[in-house]
Amino acid sequence: MKNLRLLVLFSASCVLVTGLEAPLTSAASGEPAKGKLIYETNCLICHGARGKGDGLIGATLRPPPADLTGPKARATSDKDLLTVIRDGRAVMPAWKSRLKDQDIENVLAYIRSLGE
Ligand code: HEC
Repeated sequence: MKNLRLLVLFSASCVLVTGLEAPLTSAASGEPAKGKLIYETNCLICHGARGKGDGLIGATLRPPPADLTGPKARATSDKDLLTVIRDGRAVMPAWKSRLKDQDIENVLAYIRSLGE
């Protein structure tokens, strides 16, 4: 009986721990409203107002900026998109030295909200 109670306690704490960990690794911890300003200041020029990759200079780039609302981006995990934003890729600049980690998560949360 005592063992059963321990088991229940153990499983409950596992659920709690995994439940707490999840938001730290996903855009769930970002705030879209705060990300909007970051996006408009730093990303809109290439990715466009709606994230379609049709920003003012975006159209001139090869490869063109990704459509952040398209099926490919939506199928990509938050973790992988965060890596691209932090480290950059091709002509996409790296942002980790320019934006705080929390701002990068906020901007991803905003990008995710564009597709809705
Ligand atoms: C100078 C233009 C430019 C700016 C500014 C820029 N990007 Fe990009 N971005 C690109 C290009 C070009 C690609 C595609 C790179 C490739 O295909 O390898 C890209 C790709 C991405 C991707 C990957 C999408 C995918 O489907 O894999 C994300 C996410 C992204 N950008 C987010 C951002 C965010 C957030 C900002 C602002 C903080 C930003 N970008 C600013 C040009 C830009």
